[in-house]
Amino acid sequence: MKHKGFVLWFTGLSGSGKSTLANEIYKKLKVNGTKIEKLDGDVVRENLTKDLGFSPEDRDENIRRIGFVSNLLSKNGVAVLASFISPYIHQRKDLRAKVENYIEVFVNASLEVCEARDVKGLYKKARTGEIPLFTGITDPYEAPDNSDIELRTDELSVDECVNQIINYLKKKGFIFFD
Ligand SMILES: Nc1ncnc2c1ncn2[C@@H]1O[C@H](COP(=O)(O)OP(=O)(O)O)[C@@H](O)[C@H]1O
Ligand SMILES: [Mg+2]
Repeated sequence: MKHKGFVLWFTGLSGSGKSTLANEIYKKLKVNGTKIEKLDGDVVRENLTKDLGFSPEDRDENIRRIGFVSNLLSKNGVAVLASFISPYIHQRKDLRAKVENYIEVFVNASLEVCEARDVKGLYKKARTGEIPLFTGITDPYEAPDNSDIELRTDELSVDECVNQIINYLKKKGFIFFD
C-alpha cells in the first residue's frame, strides 16, 4: 500500500476516544508499511511541551508547537495521528491553515458519556476541584462544525469508527494500493 503524508487530527473531550481510535488506526496502517507517527497528549506534554500548563495561552502554545511538528512530518510523507483535546475553534482554524493535508476528526461523545467512562479518573478530580481548568467542566470545549470526519463514539463501535476513517483516507486518495 502507498500513501501520502497527512495529519489525522483527533479533537474531542477527554475520554471521547481519541487515543483509542489513533491506536487502532496506527496498528492497521503500520502493518501495511505506512510511515506513521503518533503524537498523543500525555507523551507530548511530558517531552515537547513540559513547560506549559492549561491556561488558554498555554493550551494555544501547546497546539501550535504540535501543529508545527505535524506539518514537518506530513510535508515529508509521514502519516501523523495527533490526539489532542484542542478545545478552541481558533486553534483548529490555525491548524487547518498551516498544516499540510490536515484532516480533522471530531471524536464526539456527550460529556455525560465521557464522564461516566472517566478512563483516567480525571473528571472526578475536576468535579472536586483537584484539577482546575478541565475541558468540559471548568474550561470550554468549542465543538467543531466543519470537521472532515465526525464520529459519534457514544453510538458507534470502535471498529465502525476505524472503518469510517480508513474509507475516508481511501476515498480522498491519502492511502492507495499500487
Ligand atoms: N467508538 C468508540 N471509539 C473510541 N473509543 C470508544 C468507542 N466506544 C467506546 N470507547 C471507549 O471509550 C474510551 C475512550 O478513552 P480514550 O481513547 O483514552 O479517550 P481520549 O484519548 O479521547 O481521552 C475507551 O475506554 C474506549 O474503549
Ligand atoms: Mg487520549
